[in-house]
Amino acid sequence: MVAAKIYYDADADLSHIQDKTIVFIGFGNQGAAQAQNLRDSGIPNEKIVVANREDHYAEDAKAKGFQVVNDFGKAAEVADVLFLLIPDQVQPRVFNGKIAPSLKQNAVIVVASGYNVFYKLLRIAPTNDVVMVAPRMIGSSVRSLYQKGRGFPCFVSTEQNGSGKASEIALALCRAIGATKSGAIESSVREETAMDLFAEQGLWPNIIALFREAFSVLKEAGCSDEALCYEMWMSKEPAEIFEKAADDGFILQLKHHSSVSQYGQLSGALAIDGTEIRNHFKDILYNRVLNGKFCEEFSKIEEALEKEGEGNPLNQLYTRSEACELAQAEKRVRHRLASQR
Ligand code: NAI
Repeated sequence: MVAAKIYYDADADLSHIQDKTIVFIGFGNQGAAQAQNLRDSGIPNEKIVVANREDHYAEDAKAKGFQVVNDFGKAAEVADVLFLLIPDQVQPRVFNGKIAPSLKQNAVIVVASGYNVFYKLLRIAPTNDVVMVAPRMIGSSVRSLYQKGRGFPCFVSTEQNGSGKASEIALALCRAIGATKSGAIESSVREETAMDLFAEQGLWPNIIALFREAFSVLKEAGCSDEALCYEMWMSKEPAEIFEKAADDGFILQLKHHSSVSQYGQLSGALAIDGTEIRNHFKDILYNRVLNGKFCEEFSKIEEALEKEGEGNPLNQLYTRSEACELAQAEKRVRHRLASQR
């Protein structure tokens, strides 16, 4: 059994970061939340720099009283700790082109997702520290939970220990953003990337396909579009089931359902032989995620994601996905409901 270490406030010492200049590259979802939490934890405002291109995020940082610079290179020059909080697909270009050339040899680089470090897309000197502080929570909740004096789930890891103090600094940063309040879980960029991309490429595609095929089977059996949409998701019942699973237990939430439902679900799930699905999942995990094949494929289409219309591969996928019976029926139902309001 693999039991992960969990770190609390008492395991973290803020003095490891107290005298350091901390630079936030990006003031978006995570950047805005983490920078404010860190400042409210007692890191002096004059020690925090927000580096952001000129846009509304930069204006927001200024309005919140942070010193903001637009030159990433200049910010990198002064950084003892550098939080890399711009979108993952933008990080290699910005980091390798504008930050790495002027970054101090002993600066601590902090990522909030494992992707670019695991796939070695950032050119990092061996003398730098690299740590992951990855909240499992959207930025607005990282901020609001901190303000309520509560913590949030977070992964922490040390990936490169140039200074010999990287783990202590990582824990101090976790504490400063409020992540050790309810426990920061020891992880790694490999684990975080594997779980994230597996969920995105293995688990959820199967759930989408199950709903799509179930819809068609029930429609063929004579069920109406309206009844199906509400039965399957528009009632928000699936969202409630997952909420109960988080509160009461993945299996034990079933006790909220009728006996017919409990019997049907439990006996039905036990009757499914998982061998085939397990092999399919292993194939995705080992032959697509962990071996870097997906990363290679994604980097080829990345630039095209900026395009408008059908030249954008994501738009093409939407067009194909929305052609299915479920999506077409939902469109009709929503249109009908809107016109009746
Ligand atoms: P975001 O999408 O909110 O980023 C916006 C920021 O990036 C702004 O400061 C903007 O000026 C800057 N930016 C955007 N495009 C840029 C470009 N081309 N060049 C320079 N700056 C650019 O980012 P978010 O969602 O906060 O993600 C940051 C990191 O946090 C990522 O590694 C992500 O995986 C991770 N993360 C995100 C979570 C979330 O809830 N969104 C949850 C946990 C981790």
